Amino acid sequence: MQDEIYKLPKEFLHRIKALYPHNYNEIVHTFLKKKLLAFRVNYSKASLVEIRKKAANAHLKIKELKFPKGTFLLNSDLRQLQKTKMYDDGEIFVQNISSMLVPIVLSPVPGDKILDLCAAPGAKTTQILSIAENIDLTAIEKSRTRYYKLLANLKNQGFENKATVLIMDGIWVRKKFPEEFDKILLDAPCSAEGLFYILNPKSYGYWKLNKIKEAVSKQKQLLNAAFYALKEGGELVYSTCTFAPEENEAMVDWFLKKYKDKIELLPVELELDNACSGIKHWKGNRFRFNVQYVKRIIPDKYFEAFFIAKFKKIAA
Ligand SMILES: C[S@@+](CC[C@H](N)C(=O)[O-])C[C@H]1O[C@@H](n2cnc3c(N)ncnc32)[C@H](O)[C@@H]1O
Repeated sequence: MQDEIYKLPKEFLHRIKALYPHNYNEIVHTFLKKKLLAFRVNYSKASLVEIRKKAANAHLKIKELKFPKGTFLLNSDLRQLQKTKMYDDGEIFVQNISSMLVPIVLSPVPGDKILDLCAAPGAKTTQILSIAENIDLTAIEKSRTRYYKLLANLKNQGFENKATVLIMDGIWVRKKFPEEFDKILLDAPCSAEGLFYILNPKSYGYWKLNKIKEAVSKQKQLLNAAFYALKEGGELVYSTCTFAPEENEAMVDWFLKKYKDKIELLPVELELDNACSGIKHWKGNRFRFNVQYVKRIIPDKYFEAFFIAKFKKIAA
């Protein structure tokens, strides 16, 4: 099994070693096993107490987490969960725990006008709608097939009339919605290194440095667009499911430099043992000192690798 790790691109492994010299072994071992599943309560349809009862009645092997609240680790087979009425009725949503952290960092509150800029298949869109009532949410997706998945998830979770869903390229929000939103989530298209799984060669077979470069160029365009669509005083959460510092800390550093005096970085606070601050430098480039305010989620058997940064627009 150990040797299986070497099926992953050599250069990728070198980069992980450079990033995490102390826990390299633990991290690369997470690529050998499929992540264990988790699900969360959809508060618009059920309460935590109700879901606890229904899960017990269905004899599911679960463990409730203190954080994020309303989340259960699933130690039973997914098919067993899928046979339950609470699953069919959209009272719960199956999602990796790391992905659930992002809407928590966004902190939607009633009255917020929110943009989910890269929304499909809607794990985070439906979570935002589940945790905050009376918000005005616009969800945008560029890919037609993924847009339909987003619509299906919104419907299953009971939110089909609770969001404006648009199929369009997110880069145009700068023209279509200038200074419109209190909060924007940019869960960016990325090189998705956090999803590498050894038994799924498609997940890592296409990895190369050029893919990271391509992702960087899309992310810059989307971050620029998000800046213009954000109100003064508004907040932007940027996340990726990748390790690559080019798409993470270097992107934050680039954004802070480009919108100097217009954007500030806010600390991402998460009560987790496996979350760490951002790295200080990469490939000879030292980042602005506050880039450390971001959070990296270190993968384990439940958590996927994730990166989360939060900004405030302080001037137009
Ligand atoms: C990381 S996924 C989003 C996952 C989603 N936020 C969730 O939690 O379910 C990135 C999404 O961005 C979409 N995308 C890529 N480029 C885009 C663009 N220019 N405008 C809008 N969406 C885009 C992709 O099709 C993909 O669905």
